Amino acid sequence: MTILVTGATGNVGRHVVHTLFQSGRSVRALSRNPKAAILPEEVEVVYGDLTMPETLVPVLKGIEGIFLLTSSAGGSPLQTGSEIIELAVKAGVRRIVMLWNGEKGTVERATEASDLEWTHIHPYCEFMSNTLAWTESIRTERVVREPFGDTPNAVIHEADVAAVAATVLTQDGHAGKTYVLTGPEALTPRDKARMIGEALGRNIRFSELSKDQAHERMKTMNLPEDVIEYVLHWHENLPAEAYTVVPTVKEVTGQQARTFAQWVTAHIQDFS
Ligand SMILES: NC(=O)c1ccc[n+]([C@@H]2O[C@H](COP(=O)([O-])OP(=O)(O)OC[C@H]3O[C@@H](n4cnc5c(N)ncnc54)[C@H](OP(=O)(O)O)[C@@H]3O)[C@@H](O)[C@H]2O)c1
Repeated sequence: MTILVTGATGNVGRHVVHTLFQSGRSVRALSRNPKAAILPEEVEVVYGDLTMPETLVPVLKGIEGIFLLTSSAGGSPLQTGSEIIELAVKAGVRRIVMLWNGEKGTVERATEASDLEWTHIHPYCEFMSNTLAWTESIRTERVVREPFGDTPNAVIHEADVAAVAATVLTQDGHAGKTYVLTGPEALTPRDKARMIGEALGRNIRFSELSKDQAHERMKTMNLPEDVIEYVLHWHENLPAEAYTVVPTVKEVTGQQARTFAQWVTAHIQDFS
């Protein structure tokens, strides 16, 4: 059984590739730029673009399961879900695991309307890897600048999202389910800055941005206006699911969810 991993070069997808590969599965990794992909040599890396479904025809040959993103670069929901799912069904795909953003778009609707076995994986919370956005200001100024400094979030290690995905892709009994995921503790941006400082043995200052300042900063990152509005609105009106710890990672994988302290230890060089 070959599994297609989309987003294979991303924070979660590359862990999905590694986890499946290490458990002896045959994996095909999708990228819009396969030459730049840093993945195990033995993994087949193929070109494909989810916004151009015709590029997926050769990619889907012999595929039984797909780890499927529901958004494209920049976070915009894919508009090509029905074409992707039609091609997947034609190719004989049996199972789809979607990394869900919480709003049903074209991918989710087409999958649910099909006869495919599907599972939604829904990390309501933030990924720990979002903290990598702080590396430069911590390295050069020992400061973290963020809005909503006291808003807790049950941040999840991207390897745990991947572990759930790999389990669901390779074991029966998960069809039709939506798994809400969180990490093991709710932390504020201020907490995270302090914990990185403790691990570095340095004082890291937290400087709270206003909503307008955060908006301006995201504009300089060339994020589309609708995505900026969505992100700010989400942080300002954080759903309880984003900071209420749930045991799903342990229930699905049998392993405790990794802590932020573990994540920081593994990434300490990035902040030094
Ligand atoms: N960050 C968070 O806190 C958070 C929380 C919940 C959910 N999510 C969602 O989780 C998903 C994955 O996040 P991530 O952090 O793992 O991703 P990421 O590191 O931002 O990487 C994005 C991945 O998507 C691929 N990609 C983008 N546009 C594509 C397209 N048109 N066709 C094919 N592949 C495309 C990229 O592959 P190539 O560049 O190699 O083509 C890359 O592997 C995202 O949809 C995000 O919205 C994120």
